[in-house]
Amino acid sequence: MQTLDEMKPQQSPELLKSLHILTRDGKINQDSRRKLKQVYHLYNFIEPILEKMNKENEHYSIVDHGCGKSYLGFILYDLFIKLNLGRVIGIESREELVENAKVLAKKLKFDRMSFINSSIVEAENLVPGHVDMVTALHACDTATDDAIFFGLKRKVKYFFLIPCCQAEVARLMRKNKSASLKEPITELWRHPIHTREIGSHLTNVLRCLLLESQGYKLTVTELVGWEHSMKNELIIAENVGVKKGNAQARILEILRLFNLQELESKFII
Ligand SMILES: C[S@@+](CC[C@H](N)C(=O)[O-])C[C@H]1O[C@@H](n2cnc3c(N)ncnc32)[C@H](O)[C@@H]1O
Repeated sequence: MQTLDEMKPQQSPELLKSLHILTRDGKINQDSRRKLKQVYHLYNFIEPILEKMNKENEHYSIVDHGCGKSYLGFILYDLFIKLNLGRVIGIESREELVENAKVLAKKLKFDRMSFINSSIVEAENLVPGHVDMVTALHACDTATDDAIFFGLKRKVKYFFLIPCCQAEVARLMRKNKSASLKEPITELWRHPIHTREIGSHLTNVLRCLLLESQGYKLTVTELVGWEHSMKNELIIAENVGVKKGNAQARILEILRLFNLQELESKFII
């Protein structure tokens, strides 16, 4: 596991300063330290897959959805991508974040790093060429779903998803609650806090089944060490070309059980 005290030789102090992780005199800025620690922790999961991907296609490309300030993209580039021929494209709907990230990438001469100011849905037509990996770190609400659909359409080999707040399913569960109350299973989401938690859990379960129904093998785990973040689930998916036979039947059954049939067209494709 990499820590801040064990910076790799290729790491750019300039990048850490620009991300406000190092102060001007080269000391660690404690406020930003936590964010960097989180991204390093995630990097430890991604690195072996980057090695594999680079062997499969040295001109690999990664699309980071809802990239925000692009901490993840910059760290991936600084630790790995700059040593080979890959590229990373950040998609972000907030223009000012995209402009700032572009300026920083230019300053650091991270030439194979680019950004598109767009929603994830519209990015489908804006990202050129082949895409090998989709990442989405805390992309809000349904933006994680959009990232999954983007990746499925582009037939990416790998996904790295750390979902954020999942409100859509909980919203529907709330809306349909009174119609479901006669079933004992509704006890699982009768209280509002349970609606939110089961809704969030169910969203990720359905996302996993969707990916499995499309030929992906999954590792679903906890990003331990993210002690300050509640959004702690990591879904790693690799396209192995074998569709899980019962995945769609299970999606349908779960949607029926939880009275969420409105979501059928979203998870059955
Ligand atoms: C919680 S932030 C996470 C940013 C970054 N990935 C990180 O972890 O530091 C989510 C970002 O996703 C962007 N976003 C949300 N929905 C989006 C969408 N549908 N299309 C593009 N960007 C989106 C937001 O503007 C925001 O910058």
